[in-house]
Amino acid sequence: MTYARITGTGGYLPDKVLTNHDLEKMVDTTDQWIRERTGISKRHIARDGQYTVDLAEHAARRALEAAGRDAQDVDLIIVATTTPDRVFPSTACLLQKRLDRHGCAAFDIQAVCTGFVYALSVADKFVRTGSAKCALVVGAETLSRVLDWNDRSTCVLFGDGAGAVLLEASDEPGILSTHLHADGAYEHLLSVPGGVSQGYDSLNDGKGYVTMKGNEVFKVAVNTLGRIVDETLEANNLDKSAIDWLIPHQANIRIIQATAKKLKMSMDHVVVTVDEHGNTSGASVPLALDVAVRDGRIKRGETLLMEAFGGGFTWGSILLKY
Ligand code: ACO
Repeated sequence: MTYARITGTGGYLPDKVLTNHDLEKMVDTTDQWIRERTGISKRHIARDGQYTVDLAEHAARRALEAAGRDAQDVDLIIVATTTPDRVFPSTACLLQKRLDRHGCAAFDIQAVCTGFVYALSVADKFVRTGSAKCALVVGAETLSRVLDWNDRSTCVLFGDGAGAVLLEASDEPGILSTHLHADGAYEHLLSVPGGVSQGYDSLNDGKGYVTMKGNEVFKVAVNTLGRIVDETLEANNLDKSAIDWLIPHQANIRIIQATAKKLKMSMDHVVVTVDEHGNTSGASVPLALDVAVRDGRIKRGETLLMEAFGGGFTWGSILLKY
């Protein structure tokens, strides 16, 4: 049986750092409110002229290097992003050009904060069915560009960044199972209401920015993530104790703690980057994975549970042997 196995990870954060104290000077907020309600103390912001593909390229090159592979080895490129650089070509095609890789399939996936989990699940299917042998899967976002920097209820939450993995065919596990869900009925709770088919004018009057009923999103997120943890364990006939590391989407430390509690997991086995990165949407899970792989916490053979929840609503999980 062919499995799809992560052979390299990479991450990239823009140099520019925005602290909670910086935000105190921009909107009516405090460092204490942001840390207590979200766990965030700072986030990275793309500088002027730095775009999603720039972040994606850095992360992708680092993942290739970690795997000991060249871009020419890649036969599938998927980029999860909600903040593409252009209407078209896709960010995946722009990245393909940067990597000087010609001819392989390349496309974007848009599932907001669950984007990377969706993208990795799709890549897993390609690899397991033999349609690809070496997939580059990237989550890259410049969420700062769709934030209203006068809206304290959203602008303090997000940051920019990119994470990437190389996923290769292997006889060894590998991704064990993937679980994807969505419910568009919740679009009114979390959205950027404007969009290109409504005409470019639709992006004016605040419609080009994130709007969120945070409190209601919070409640659905906690319940939904609890359910998907159960679904993933049941599908694999596994007990909670089998999970070595939880790699959650990094939206809010309180949501992460609720999921860890559900798993009866000590926070020592939960990868947390929300304090330093904020919510980087589709980039948050691969960035967190890369941090914990590079600092030596996550080791080969360990069992990892990734989960995410985001706009759509979309949610999903992946269980894998690293
Ligand atoms: N600084 C100070 N006060 C603030 C700020 C701020 N930055 N933002 C809001 N407040 C105020 C509100 O106005 C409100 O004041 P009021 O009581 O006088 O009306 C008070 O703080 C409490 O507001 P709540 O929204 O109830 O605060 P809550 O504890 O729910 O925290 C938060 C808000 C952090 C947004 C939380 O609800 C949350 O994390 N929600 C989930 C976010 C999420 O997971 N999103 C999904 C992924 S994102 C994506 O998919 C793109």
